Amino acid sequence: MSRSFHLRVFGCQMNFYDGELIRAAFIKRGWVESEDAEKAQLHMFHTCSVRENAEERVHGLLGELRRLKKNDPSIVIAVIGCMADREGEELFEREPHVDIVCGSRHFPKLPDLVAKVEGGEQRVCVLGEAKEVVDEQERDLTGRVPGYQAHVAVMRGCDMNCTYCIVPSVRGRVESRPQETILDEITRLAEGGVTEVHLLGQTIDSYGRDLPKVGRPSLASLLDAIEHIEGIARIRMVTLHPSYIDQELVDAMSRSTKFMRFLPVPVQSGSDPVLRAMKRGYNLEMYRKRINLLRDAMPDLELISDWIVGFPGETDDDHLASEEAMREFDFLQSYVFQYSPRPGTVSHAGNDDVVPQQKARRNHRLLDLQREIAKAKTPLMVGGKSQILIERPDKKNPGYWFGRVHNGHYCLLPSRDGFAPGQLYNVDLVSYNGKALIGADNLSDDEAAKLASSVTTPKVSEFSV
Ligand code: SAH
Ligand code: SF4
Ligand code: F3S
Repeated sequence: MSRSFHLRVFGCQMNFYDGELIRAAFIKRGWVESEDAEKAQLHMFHTCSVRENAEERVHGLLGELRRLKKNDPSIVIAVIGCMADREGEELFEREPHVDIVCGSRHFPKLPDLVAKVEGGEQRVCVLGEAKEVVDEQERDLTGRVPGYQAHVAVMRGCDMNCTYCIVPSVRGRVESRPQETILDEITRLAEGGVTEVHLLGQTIDSYGRDLPKVGRPSLASLLDAIEHIEGIARIRMVTLHPSYIDQELVDAMSRSTKFMRFLPVPVQSGSDPVLRAMKRGYNLEMYRKRINLLRDAMPDLELISDWIVGFPGETDDDHLASEEAMREFDFLQSYVFQYSPRPGTVSHAGNDDVVPQQKARRNHRLLDLQREIAKAKTPLMVGGKSQILIERPDKKNPGYWFGRVHNGHYCLLPSRDGFAPGQLYNVDLVSYNGKALIGADNLSDDEAAKLASSVTTPKVSEFSV
C-alpha cells in the first residue's frame, strides 16, 4: 500500500504555491495525499513567521501530534518554510517529536530528507541559502489545486530591509526566475484550462534586477510576453513595492489587455516619521508620485494596501495620518495588521509601546474606514462597461454568477447555460445592489446607452450579496 502524507500550509500565496510543488514531489514518488491527519504517515507544515500568532498556531497543532507520535513512533513530522528558517534547531527543543526542520529554499529536497529519517537519522535540519535554485526548469503541475486560477512564482526573497519584517532573513535575497521558464509554465497552465494567473513575488516589481544585464527581463517585459499566451484572460500581481514602480512598468500595464487593474501597492502607514522608522524607503510624497504615475496612465486602476497599526512609537496623530492616507489614495481594499515584534528584526529591539487595546482600536478604525470607502466607490462604476471573470454561482442570489470586474469590484451576472468558472464576459454595469454591481452582457448598444443615461443615484435593491 502506498504511504500517505498530510500537508498544511500557512502564510502568503507563495507558500500555497510551494505547497503545490511539495505535493507534486511526493505524488511523483508514489505517495498519496490524505485529507485525514490521523491516518497519515508523514505530517508536513509549511509555515509562516510574519507575525507571532502565525507561529503560535503551528506550535499548537504540533502539540496535538505528540500523542499520535507516541502511539506510532514511525510517523514523520516536518516543519518547513519561514518558521523553520527563523527558529532553526531551536524548534527541536520546543517540539522534540519533530523530525525535520527544512528552510524555504530547501523544500525540493524533502522526499530525500524523509528517506533519511526513515533510514534512522534523527533531527534532520537544512536551512539558509541553497546551492540549487528553488524553482525547477519545468514545474511539475500534478500537485496543483485544480481550477481556473493558478499561482506562478516570478521571484523569491526580498532585498529590502523594513525594520519590522522577518521575510528577508527567512526567505533570503531576491532570486528571479528566467522569463522563459515562467512563460513556459504559464503556457502549460493555459493549455490545462487556466484563465487567471497570479504572479507572485515579495517585491514583484523588482523582478529581473538580480539577473545579468544583457537581455535582462523585467516585470514589463514579462507582461508584454504573457499578452501573447492564448487562453490567459487575466494577470494579477502580488505584491508591488512602491520604490520599484517606473514608467516602463506603468506603460506595460496600461497597454496590456490582460493585466487586472486591481493592484497591491502597500503603503503600511500614512505618517512620514513612522515610514522612516519602518525604513520603507519612501515618504508619503514619494508614494504619492508613484501612485500618480499609475493613475495618470490608468484612471480606472484600483489599489489594495497593507497597513501596520501600533508600530513602536506610533502616536494618535500618526494613526490619523494613516486614516487620511487611506482616504487620499482611495483604496478599494486593505489588509490591516497589528504590529507584532519579530525576534531578530531591527524594530524588535525597540519598545512595543502601543498597548494591545490601542492596536485593536486602530485596526478597527482602519477597517471601518476601508469598508466605507469601498462602499462609496463601487456604485460609481454603474453606467460603465467592463469585463467580468465569473467565479461561481452566487449563493445569496440564485440565478446569478459572481465575479470581479477588470478593476476588482464585485459583480453579479445573470446566469446562462454554458457558464463555467473562469470565463470572461464583456458587461454593461447596469446597477448596484448595495454590495455588488449588476452586469448585463447581452444588451444592444442602444439598450446599454439608454441604461447608462438613465442611471441616477443607485438604490439598494432587493438583492443582497
Ligand atoms: N513584501 C510585501 C509584504 C509582505 S509581508 C510589502 O513590502 O508590502 C505582508 C504584510 O505583513 C506586510 O505588508 C505588512 O503589512 C505585514 N507585516 C510584516 N511584518 C509584520 C510585523 N512584524 N507585524 C505586523 N505586520 C507585519
Ligand atoms: Fe518585508 Fe519590506 Fe521585504 Fe515587504 S519589502 S517583504 S515588508 S522587508
Ligand atoms: Fe509568511 Fe514567509 Fe510568506 S513569513 S508571509 S510565509 S514569506
